[in-house]
Amino acid sequence: MEQALERALKRSETEGKWRQRYHFTPPVSWMNDPNGLVYYKGLYHLFYQYNPKSCKWDSMHWGHAVSEDMIHWKDMPVALKPDQEYDCHPEGGCFSGSAVEKDGVLFLFYTATTQIDGVVHQTQCIATSKDGMTFEKYPNNPVIKEPPQGFSNDFRDPKVFKHNGKWYMVVGGCIGSATFDGDGRICLYESDDLYNWKYKGNVLESNGKLGTMMECPDMFELNGKWVVTCSPMNHPDYNKSLYCVGTMDFENCIYTIEKMGNMDVGFDYYAPQSFTDKEGNRVLIAWQNGWLWMPWCIDWGPTSLENWRGCLSVPRKVQLDSENNLCMYPVKEVESLISQIVTYTDMEIGEKAIKLYDDPNRSNRIILKLDITKIESRNLEICVLGKESSYTAIQIDFLSKIITLDKSYGDHYEGGRMNCPFELHDNYLELCILVDHSSVEVYVNHGEKCITTNVYPEENQTECWIRTPYKKAVVDYVQIDFLTSSWEV
Ligand code: FRU
Repeated sequence: MEQALERALKRSETEGKWRQRYHFTPPVSWMNDPNGLVYYKGLYHLFYQYNPKSCKWDSMHWGHAVSEDMIHWKDMPVALKPDQEYDCHPEGGCFSGSAVEKDGVLFLFYTATTQIDGVVHQTQCIATSKDGMTFEKYPNNPVIKEPPQGFSNDFRDPKVFKHNGKWYMVVGGCIGSATFDGDGRICLYESDDLYNWKYKGNVLESNGKLGTMMECPDMFELNGKWVVTCSPMNHPDYNKSLYCVGTMDFENCIYTIEKMGNMDVGFDYYAPQSFTDKEGNRVLIAWQNGWLWMPWCIDWGPTSLENWRGCLSVPRKVQLDSENNLCMYPVKEVESLISQIVTYTDMEIGEKAIKLYDDPNRSNRIILKLDITKIESRNLEICVLGKESSYTAIQIDFLSKIITLDKSYGDHYEGGRMNCPFELHDNYLELCILVDHSSVEVYVNHGEKCITTNVYPEENQTECWIRTPYKKAVVDYVQIDFLTSSWEV
């Protein structure tokens, strides 16, 4: 633990070939979900599921970092550690939750997870702070001692928010078995004082269609609609993070869904949590990995060789489009990372690949604007994190209107392809691609669709090129932003 803190202070971006440069990573060892995202007393606070002792998921703590701009982070000492009867167990600890400010005090809500006689107990607890640096667990924890009647022991991830002068909390739950054939729920609680909570009913019920347990639920208002998000376990379509848009009657706890969709069609986008930035925008940050990483699925992911595991997505501003689809796009603060910009207009491309850059720092953003009337070819391919026959490809098929992110040749780890449908707007398509040491994110048409994945390239995979498999294309506009690190070194 001491060692972990020491490392945290000496964090450096040179810790390995996969250590991310501008995506948040823990100073050392394992991390998963973002927790307690909040702007409090002039700083952004980011807490996260953390095991300071090893690169494996175990005894969950809340790691902590602060930032002035949500992009450049400073590691802080661990905020919560499992040290109470109700939250102390190697397969438990201080699980995910959220933060709110009331009368200048920062309230953290978390799920205490322990086991009694081999039976898992999950309860909702509070820790408070007056300075955002040191935290005290509430002596009368837990504030919610058991799930609603008829629910299973899987009862976690409180997200607290205020609406019309009242406090509300959504919590993930399940009827039956979360691992096998249970039915997921998002429960709603109400409170006047943050300490006493009353169960109001369920905001969302799976009814056999949306998975067995709704992990990390969230609920926020956008353009007069209520957006509900969660990461369902065992979703039939492998939908990792789900969103609904609808209207909410808080008095009777009736949520009417008007729209439902997948937040990110990539492999690695789980447990997103939202918060309000200092300008009032709704922003989301997610764990940019997934439970495929757990040893019973594939393995623990390769980065333990570098003594860290897990990263977060860059913060994304959330908006609804004119048809109430959820759109997410990197916050404008990302631009504070730009060290150099290169642009091309009317770039002629053909079968022979054109190299767009060789970036030894492997940290960049590519913006492409395509006018389909200038493209004779059916396909266009952009390869990133590449060297000769190793690369991650973003392939655009203009006929079937599908973008494929193919990492089959990207690394020696997982491989895989994801398909994402897209639409043209007045014959235009815009792509924004974020490249870091072990991830690629693609934003289609300013965030109408997002494709996020991890990839573990070799150190020499630094190049980006563009080509068409046959015939010619003219690319209207290409912008390459070379990015610096989020970490002070
Ligand atoms: C989601 C999750 C949460 C839980 C936490 C434990 O990734 O399973 O439901 O609180 O991770 O680390």
